[in-house]
Amino acid sequence: MSARLIKDDIYAVGTIDWNERHFHGHTYVTKRGVTYNSYLIIDEKVTLIDTVRKGFEKELIENIKSVVDPAKIDVIIINHIEPDHSGAFPEILKLCPNARIYGTEKARQGLLKYYGVSGDWTAVKSGQSLNIGKRKLDFIDVPMIHWPDSMFTYSSYDKILFSNDGFGQHYATNKVFDDEVNFAALMDEAQKYYANILWPFNTLVAAKLSEISKLNLNIDIIAPSHGLVWRKYISEIIQKYLYWSSHSCQDRVAVVYETMWQSTEKMARKIVEGITSEGIEAVLFNVTENDRTDIASYMLDAKGWVFGSSTHDGEMLPVITGFLHFLKGSKAKGRTSFAFGSYGWSGEAVKDIEDTISGITSLEPSLRVVFNPTEEELNKCYEVGKAFALKIKYKS
Ligand code: FEO
Repeated sequence: MSARLIKDDIYAVGTIDWNERHFHGHTYVTKRGVTYNSYLIIDEKVTLIDTVRKGFEKELIENIKSVVDPAKIDVIIINHIEPDHSGAFPEILKLCPNARIYGTEKARQGLLKYYGVSGDWTAVKSGQSLNIGKRKLDFIDVPMIHWPDSMFTYSSYDKILFSNDGFGQHYATNKVFDDEVNFAALMDEAQKYYANILWPFNTLVAAKLSEISKLNLNIDIIAPSHGLVWRKYISEIIQKYLYWSSHSCQDRVAVVYETMWQSTEKMARKIVEGITSEGIEAVLFNVTENDRTDIASYMLDAKGWVFGSSTHDGEMLPVITGFLHFLKGSKAKGRTSFAFGSYGWSGEAVKDIEDTISGITSLEPSLRVVFNPTEEELNKCYEVGKAFALKIKYKS
């Protein structure tokens, strides 16, 4: 991808990682790949906003060179130091050794720890700004959205908010703007991104959105450092962030299970039948066959969470164990759950599930069967599912 103009004298110079499928180690399955967005502003002071992941330096440098000699960069703004944005920083710094670097103090400390260099650093925070010529760039720190060092940069001249991880999506494409791709796919990736990156920080996201709205910024463009640049659907994505960060839920249920000999699966299917008999949507996820990324995305605004596991060696099964520990990090609110599962002789899995998730959801009575469920026990699963649906329907 070469540089693309997103506004007069502002270029997207980032890179596309078409084949990235496991972002953040293996915590996030990125089926559509990833982009690392970086922006170049040509003003009296040539300014680069964020860099890209290590391994993509050459491409970033080529993209910059297609607009300006990198040696002419006067200012580098580091909105966030996670290596997907800062990995190329040391190489870029070598090309423009006289550039001044702007970011939070925590960002400076983090860069030093990662790379041993931070350049000629000026620490900035909310309320401070930088004149680069025609433009004044305002800094807005957004700690824990989603690292302590994170900040946004706003150009009132261009009405652009450079939001780094905020409003991102993992969507590899050579298109630049939100209206150049399929809207449903875009919003699906935005939801997946929120569920897997920002969900644990709902309270902070809600507070920061409220604080930013009081600044009355004029925003024509939100330019995140992952995925598409928002210009047409700004109101839609902001409404979604307000909705997700408020722990709002829909009347729907995720039934997530792991099974050894399909007895727990039979229970899961009957529970789903019971739930849907009351007109409530329920989706069945075998946790060994679905990516946790997709399950978390569905669960982000599902009011009902149901979890099942067979008991194996006195424990719940290993894949659902990992999933529930991952889910605990969400710090979700307003959910209702119950646990179920089949067992041979001891049946600890159900209690394991309850113990793991009790901090993030209220719990209804659990359901266990020995070995293979009988017709009568399956009917019981159906009835429990039906009763659970009514709780979901009438719970405010
Ligand atoms: Fe895209 Fe927190 O890095």
